[in-house]
Amino acid sequence: MGSETIPEPRGYILAGTWWRDAVFYQVYVRSFADSNGDGVGDLAGLKSRLPYLADLGVDALWLNPFYRSPMADHGYDVADPRDVDPVFGTLADFDDMVAEAHRLGIKVTVDLVPNHSSDQHVWFQEALTAAPGSPERERYIFRDGRGPDGSEAPNNWTSVFGGPAWHRVTEPDGTPGQWYLHLFAPEQPDLNWDNPEVMADLEKTLRFWLDRGADGFRIDVAHGLAKPPGLPDMEAVKETLAGDGHPRFDYDGVHEIHRRIRKVLDEYPDSMAVGEIWVQDVERLKLYLRADELHLAFNFVIVQARWRADELRKAIDDSRDTVSGTPAPPCWVWSNHDIVRHVSRFGEGLVGDRRARAASMLTFALPGVVYVYYGDEVGLPNVELPDEVLQDPTWERSGHSVRGRDACRIPMPWTPGEPPYGFSPEPVDTWLPQPAGWSPLAVESQVGVEGSTHTLYKEAIALRKAREEFSGEMTWLDAPEGCLAFRRDGGLTCLVNFTNHPVELPEHRELLLTSVPLVDGKLPGDAAAWLV
Ligand code: NOJ
Repeated sequence: MGSETIPEPRGYILAGTWWRDAVFYQVYVRSFADSNGDGVGDLAGLKSRLPYLADLGVDALWLNPFYRSPMADHGYDVADPRDVDPVFGTLADFDDMVAEAHRLGIKVTVDLVPNHSSDQHVWFQEALTAAPGSPERERYIFRDGRGPDGSEAPNNWTSVFGGPAWHRVTEPDGTPGQWYLHLFAPEQPDLNWDNPEVMADLEKTLRFWLDRGADGFRIDVAHGLAKPPGLPDMEAVKETLAGDGHPRFDYDGVHEIHRRIRKVLDEYPDSMAVGEIWVQDVERLKLYLRADELHLAFNFVIVQARWRADELRKAIDDSRDTVSGTPAPPCWVWSNHDIVRHVSRFGEGLVGDRRARAASMLTFALPGVVYVYYGDEVGLPNVELPDEVLQDPTWERSGHSVRGRDACRIPMPWTPGEPPYGFSPEPVDTWLPQPAGWSPLAVESQVGVEGSTHTLYKEAIALRKAREEFSGEMTWLDAPEGCLAFRRDGGLTCLVNFTNHPVELPEHRELLLTSVPLVDGKLPGDAAAWLV
C-alpha cells in the first residue's frame, strides 16, 4: 500500500503560521477505521492509518467530535466535552494517536461544539430538576411559553433539523412547564452565552485539549452562540439585521465570544481555529476573521456552485473578497460530513469522478488552505441508503421527507473485496452499510496505481508543497470560453476546462500535472492542467 514510507516531519513550517497553506484532512472518526470490530471507527483505528495519511502528504487532521455523547447527532450532542466516548476509545487512545501523528509531522485539530450540549450533559439534567429562574436553568435558554397557559412556543424560531426550535419540559412537580431553545435537535439544548459560566467552561475545554497536544479547533456553528436580547420573532427583526435575516444566527454578540476564544489560543503559540460559519454576506463573514478572532473560516459559497466556469469564478472571488483586508488566507473545501460529496454533486459516475479530480487540482492550486474530506482522495461518492438504515436526526424530524446526511458518511473502503472492505478487522455490519462494488474505490486498489484518484491527490499535494511556483497571489488569465485560468505570482498556471471538448494549453515550459491524460496535446473536457 505504500503506507510504510514515513516521511520526515516537515521542517519548512514556520512557527505560528503552519496552517496558512496547509492541507487538512477531515476524519469523520466513526467512518474512518474500526480497530475493535464493532463496525464503528475509533481513535485506535485512526492511529493505525496515520502512516497512510503521512504518505498522502497531509499536514493536519480535523477530527469530528469523539467526546462522550448519546449520539443523537453523531457526537454533535456532547455530554462531556472533556472525555472520549467509549465507542471511540479512551483518553489514552487520544494521547497515543496524537503522539503518533506528531511523530509523523501531522498536526491534530479537534471539533469544538460551543452552541449547544447534549440533553444528557450533567448541566442540562440539573436544569431539568431545578426550578424556573434557578442558576441551573440559566446555563441554557429556558423561557415561559406564550398564550394564556404558556402552551405556545416563546417565539417562532425553527430548528435547522426541521420543526420548531423550542421544546416544552415537564416541571419537577409534574405540571407542564417552561420551554427550552434548541436550534438543532431537541437533544441539543442551546447554551446561554450571556452566562459567564458557559465561557469559563469552554475555556476549560480549550485548555484541556491544547494541554493534551491538540493543535487547534474547528468551531461548530461559529455563527451561532450569541442570541439577540428578547429573542424576537424571525420576521420582526429581519430588516434590522445584516446577514441572512435570521436572528438565530450571526448576532453581533458572537464576536466577543470569538475574542475570548482567541485569547486562550494565543497562549498556545502554534494553535489555530477554523470556523463553520454559514454567513453568505461577505462583509459579515469578514468580521469573524479580524486579527483577534478566528484564524480561518470555511467559505461555503464554493460548495453551492455548480460545475460551471462562471459560478466557480464567482465563488473563488467571493472567498478572496472575504479574506481581503483580514489576516486570514482563503479556506477551500469541496465536501464534508454535512453536504453531498462533490463527486455526486458534479454528476455521479465517470463524469462526477472526472470533475472532482479537476476540482481538486483547482483548489490545490489556489492560495490558501485546503480541507480534504476522508475518501475524497479515492473519489468516494454519496451512497443512497434504504430508509431503514438512516440515522441522521433530520430523517425523523422532517417526517421522513429529508433523508439527511448519512449518504456522505459511509465507512471508508481500505481493501478490495466485500464489505467491510478492511474498515473493520473482521466481517461485521458497519454502522452504515457500504455498497457492493466498491473495490475500485478501496485505498489498496489505488495507492501507487498510475491514473488513480489517489495518485493524483498524492502528486498534487507533493507538487504544491515542493514547487516554489505555488506561491504568492493569483491573477485571472484570459481563457477559452467555458474555462478558467489563473496564474500564481510564483509562476504556476492552472487551467480548468469545464466544457465537453478539448482546448489548447497555454504556452508553457513544463507541464506539471493533468487530472486526466491530454488528448492530441489538448486538455480534454472536465479536466485541469498545471503548467509553469
Ligand atoms: C454543524 C455540524 O457540522 C453538523 O454535523 C451538526 O449536525 C450541526 N452543526 C449541529 O452541531
